[in-house]
Amino acid sequence: MSCDYLALANSGVQKLQPYMAGKPVSELERELGISNIVKLASNENPLGLSVKVKKAIENEFADGSRYPDANGHYLKAVLSEKHNVSASQITLGNGSNDVLEMIAKIYVQPEHEVIFAEHAFCVYPIVAQSIGATLVEVPAKDWGNDLDAMFSAITDKTRMIFIANPNNPTGTWLGEEPLKKFVEKVPEDVIVVIDEAYTEYVTDGSIPNTIEWLSDFPNLVVTRTYSKAYGLAALRLGYALSSEEICGLLNRIRQPFNVNSFALAAGIAVLDDHSYLDESIQINKQGMEQLVESCKQLDLAYIPSAGNFLTIDMGQDAMPIYQNLLHRGVIVRPVANYNMPNHLRVSIGLQHENQKYIDSISQIVS
Ligand SMILES: Cc1ncc(COP(=O)(O)O)c(C=O)c1O
Repeated sequence: MSCDYLALANSGVQKLQPYMAGKPVSELERELGISNIVKLASNENPLGLSVKVKKAIENEFADGSRYPDANGHYLKAVLSEKHNVSASQITLGNGSNDVLEMIAKIYVQPEHEVIFAEHAFCVYPIVAQSIGATLVEVPAKDWGNDLDAMFSAITDKTRMIFIANPNNPTGTWLGEEPLKKFVEKVPEDVIVVIDEAYTEYVTDGSIPNTIEWLSDFPNLVVTRTYSKAYGLAALRLGYALSSEEICGLLNRIRQPFNVNSFALAAGIAVLDDHSYLDESIQINKQGMEQLVESCKQLDLAYIPSAGNFLTIDMGQDAMPIYQNLLHRGVIVRPVANYNMPNHLRVSIGLQHENQKYIDSISQIVS
């Protein structure tokens, strides 16, 4: 007699689709037998690791057989100073995905509703659905969060709202005034998670410093990552900033050693490497201009982006174009799973990487 293990799984998990990661370079090499591939598919930092980070990682080898500091004391001390919050408001995660999942686990139960925007980062529905909660996807406005519609979607069953600012995969962003007004209106028993994975790329003040709002809004949680502008995607490091009370709850369910020693050391080292961050931002700015210019030349519409990627309307089903790009050694990200079948998301790379994409797409669409 065989058992149906799908039927045994919790009902939310039964309906889930696995997270679709960007195609790894090694996989494309194996599949097509080609080299010189550029990967512009996962919004990674094209600069490689900071030299200071490499040194910090090497220094950790000596203690590599020991467990890491479960509380991340030294990293939290640095972050506490950087953000002007107490260390007891910081929860470290194995990437910010880890903290996003923990927050939902604490507060969301199957009878609750979780609100997020159409085209919002796909981890929000994944974590909510894995708990069996009801997903409330609010139609986007100009590809971004429609805060009025999201507010109208709140019911007495709503327990959590996810907002990415800037958003992935659209790159749209929300300014201080609308976002603060929204947070002010949301009932206190609804947790508002503002996911700021791309915030370091926005240097002109067009998005707010929500960390300053934490003392006013006990239901607010802000998440940050080291995977983007700080270039530590492989090490997996992110964190949540919240009230001490919520942080205490996150600590109850956090895996004891969820952040490894190499990530803890790297997280301190890279904050000390100001030129690395400056260069990341500069390369991103130049690469964004390069990609935007190519869209104009090719007459392709794009969504103005505050992140390290540009999402481009191919004006037709984007899947064959994606496949064609793969055969030319360029990996970008199809976003049909975000209900954007005609778009491709292109992460900003180094100048020559962007150029390889531009040369390839020019040949394909012209
Ligand atoms: C909006 C957003 N939030 C969170 C993450 C998760 O990043 P990580 O788990 O690497 O910190 C990503 C990654 O692409 C993202 O785009």
